[in-house]
Amino acid sequence: MPTTVFVVGSLNADQLLEVLAFPAPGETVLASDVLITAGGKGGNQAVAAARAGAAVVMIGALGDDAHGLLVRRALTESGVGTGWVGTVDGTHTGTAVVAVEAGGENRIIVASGANARLTGQDVESGLAGAAPGDLVLLQLETPVEVVAYAARFAKERGATVLLNAAPAPADSGCLTTDIDVLVVNQVEMRAVARLIGAGGDADGREDVAATVLATSRALDCVVVCTTGAGGAYVNVGDRVAHIPAVRVTAVDTTAAGDTYTGYLAAALARGETDLTASLTTASAAAAVTVTRRGAMASIPYAHEIDAAPRPHPYTDNTQLTTKG
Ligand code: RIB
Repeated sequence: MPTTVFVVGSLNADQLLEVLAFPAPGETVLASDVLITAGGKGGNQAVAAARAGAAVVMIGALGDDAHGLLVRRALTESGVGTGWVGTVDGTHTGTAVVAVEAGGENRIIVASGANARLTGQDVESGLAGAAPGDLVLLQLETPVEVVAYAARFAKERGATVLLNAAPAPADSGCLTTDIDVLVVNQVEMRAVARLIGAGGDADGREDVAATVLATSRALDCVVVCTTGAGGAYVNVGDRVAHIPAVRVTAVDTTAAGDTYTGYLAAALARGETDLTASLTTASAAAAVTVTRRGAMASIPYAHEIDAAPRPHPYTDNTQLTTKG
């Protein structure tokens, strides 16, 4: 039976500014170029899942402005269902200023706009059709209480819940046992672990593995922690596997984490149970994203991954089971 990835999350217009180096406090620097493109962690992950081959429905909110039209068009062109993407009158579309330094590192500031107006009612309408086998994908650029509600609502319908706790949470409201799979980077891992009392000094390799395990026990879920060039760590039960990263020359790391999460979501919704194999593919997809500029625009299609470099073929047939 075909399954669906439902994404409840943010939609932004990204103002991408390319700089040689980030300004120091009090300093002004000139950007060599500016690009306005569709982004937002929710939208990027929806596009990644769709380009990975999943049927995707987006639940989100846009402003009644030109940026809203730009983002809606970008979702539609990638085959993402936008029937539950509302337009909020008198509100601007979420806006992100993304400064990208030579070498691809970024710094991002987001003005939430319409994303802050997403409601529990929107979640109920958009997720009404969610069923066992479907996957509900969440991030933290929409109100935290709406995220927590979406996770509960999804679980009640038997769907699998994947939370990408990005940006790093400021409170523990969304960190519940409704989560089946938690995806975080190292900064987010530290924040999550501190909030739930599971340690938090995820610096060295052993610390990351220990924090992954402690967090997974506290939330009763699978935890995936990405560490950039250091690869990713994932636990299943009491074991932590390490998946190496692909080495590429980055031009813009924006949406790399979103690509990774969206590709993982698509694999889980397809019923792939070999988690390390799915994460290896996700890593290969994210490696393509960092070689291109922009957010949604940089996310590869599945056929582009087949030819892309991967970490050495990796599978230990680690199995994912989700909570009932
Ligand atoms: O993860 C990258 C995204 O973060 C950007 O597209 C920007 O909109 C912010 O949400």
